[in-house]
Amino acid sequence: MAQPLNAEINKFKSFLEGLFYQRWGSMPLVTAASPGRVNLIGEYTDFNLGFVLPMALDREIYVAGSPRNDRVLRVYSADYSEQFEFNLAELNKVPPKSWVAYVAAVYSALMSEGYNVTGADLIVQGNLPQGTGLSSSAALELAVARVAAAHGGWAWDAPAMALIGQMAENRYIGVQCGIMDQFAVAVGTPRSALFLDCRSLNYESVPVNFEEATFVIVNSGVTRQLHTSGYNERRKECDQALKMVQTLAPQAASLRDATFEHVEHFKAESAIWYKRLRHVVSENQRVQDAVKALRKGSAPEFGALMLESHRSLAEDFQVSCPELDILVRIASELDGVHGSRLTGAGFGGCAIHLVDRSQLDSFASKIALKYNRATGLNAQVIPVEPGKPARLI
Ligand code: GLA
Repeated sequence: MAQPLNAEINKFKSFLEGLFYQRWGSMPLVTAASPGRVNLIGEYTDFNLGFVLPMALDREIYVAGSPRNDRVLRVYSADYSEQFEFNLAELNKVPPKSWVAYVAAVYSALMSEGYNVTGADLIVQGNLPQGTGLSSSAALELAVARVAAAHGGWAWDAPAMALIGQMAENRYIGVQCGIMDQFAVAVGTPRSALFLDCRSLNYESVPVNFEEATFVIVNSGVTRQLHTSGYNERRKECDQALKMVQTLAPQAASLRDATFEHVEHFKAESAIWYKRLRHVVSENQRVQDAVKALRKGSAPEFGALMLESHRSLAEDFQVSCPELDILVRIASELDGVHGSRLTGAGFGGCAIHLVDRSQLDSFASKIALKYNRATGLNAQVIPVEPGKPARLI
């Protein structure tokens, strides 16, 4: 899909304004747009304070809102046709497994950090597939924060708001995620991927312009939720790996400080933590190599790193699933495909592929057909371009 045209964004905006007027009898004060993200490479390195290379997407979530002069939040989702109403003093009463929990979690995090928040009427809608590893939750969190900032009258500080989004997940949703998703959504820059150092939060925009190839996402159709997947368990296993590394290097503060020498030292280990260690150390290196390949515009080099990343995620970190492995295998047998890997947390969701533009049509039809034959599932092919960060529209 091309960069979302302003016309497309305006269409969403007018639709939400119309809906807002219909439900609540006035026009919204502001509307925010917030992109999903796809991670090009660097999986499970963020909470180990290493490197990641995500890209904000041209698929977004939109939130229209007006402040209220009481402490009530009324939130309607046009996607779910569902409305919730609660008081800011009773955010813990919000249904924990529902989409609205993310709205409440952002308000809770903002209040705990002392931001001035007002009651509000909000309407949410998006064109970003949910539960597929494209960060629909981070997109919703940052859109809500953007609207809350406008209502509360404080300046928008994108990195600080990314940390609020992460806090919302860690403290209130119960997912011990790292900073990648929220940072990519809050800070992502047009036409570029974001090379982020998750320890210092220093980042660089790296233009995505392979001469012949482009990224294509394929949704496996297997949905998962992070709080029910093995995500938090992986985080604990990484903590265990860190303890082992610290027996050799007591100064190591995170797995970011682990080296290939440490991997080599423990190579006789058959323990789970060793495999996790090997993935994290090698994935951090792959991100740095991938940035070089991207700067050179070398699709073959970038693609080879994607394949290696998938192998490591499937075998060492064990967060793939049969359907994602099948997608990657089928893709690598098709013409014009430089590389493929699962993207995001895994356990289902999407794979990302680097495909020659000249082969895009045949890639889309062949992968859908072969995947359906192999699994009985319908793959959804989603060509993507880099998008814009969370903002008012
Ligand atoms: C999810 C989390 C991120 C990151 C990825 C895996 O998307 O929200 O913080 O850990 O999984 O790379």
